[in-house]
Amino acid sequence: MPGIAISRRFALTAAGLCVALAMTACSKQEGDAPASANPAPPVPARVLVVGTDAAYTPFESQNDKGEIVGFDIDVVNAVAKKAGLEVKFVNTPWEGIFNALEQGDRDLLVSAITITDERRQTMDFSQPYFDARQLIAVRNDSPVAKFDDIKTMKVGVQNGTTGDEVVGKLLGKSSTSIKRFESTPLALKELEAGGVQAVVADNGVVVHYLANNTAGGFRTVSDASFPVEKYGIAVKRGNAQLLAKLNQGLEGIRADGTYAKIYASHFGNEPK
Ligand code: ARG
Repeated sequence: MPGIAISRRFALTAAGLCVALAMTACSKQEGDAPASANPAPPVPARVLVVGTDAAYTPFESQNDKGEIVGFDIDVVNAVAKKAGLEVKFVNTPWEGIFNALEQGDRDLLVSAITITDERRQTMDFSQPYFDARQLIAVRNDSPVAKFDDIKTMKVGVQNGTTGDEVVGKLLGKSSTSIKRFESTPLALKELEAGGVQAVVADNGVVVHYLANNTAGGFRTVSDASFPVEKYGIAVKRGNAQLLAKLNQGLEGIRADGTYAKIYASHFGNEPK
């Protein structure tokens, strides 16, 4: 069925192109300035593939039915609707997520991705859509009161995240005390098991995990030295057309109250 929908859409697009070409031909005959040689390619009228590491509740996760759900998913669905794009979400492990974008296996990424200068070198980001901060999770009986206190401990992070980065700065990037996990839940499980004494990860995910795993006996420690991080939707470097659509959609859902509704439905209050 989707195949039929796509080919019908393609036929429509092709028809549109013919009309456009015919019009160009007309205007040339009338002696107008020639049409630009290289018009920007339109965003393809096909279902765009969105990569997301769906092990990051409440931003993205898989429900019992195997559907990918969460705040990020709601935001991108709403953005796509506003911008006239069709999207589908594909679970994509964090480890390979940026490569999948680079290779063209994914058209865009939404995965609670913090916009960083380093990442900006290899991909483009939409306007920020969410503010976050690192947060430390420790066991209830832990002496940790501030970030510096974990310097001498074994610390769990999700490999290649901003949490990994800040801990790398404190302990030294190649410190063997940094235990890098494929996912944030795995790092938190290890805290429960006692293999690490602290986990540093995005506040939203840590808070959610603690609220739902009261048996784990964790508490959080915030530290003012952690900078504010901004999440953005990533596209392949130079994909200005798609980026413009996403930004237009983001603006639209902020302006009409959809964003605030989505925010409230996941976080229970108004956007900060
Ligand atoms: N915000 C952090 C970063 O960009 C962590 C994001 C991890 N996201 C995920 N879906 N696992 O590095």
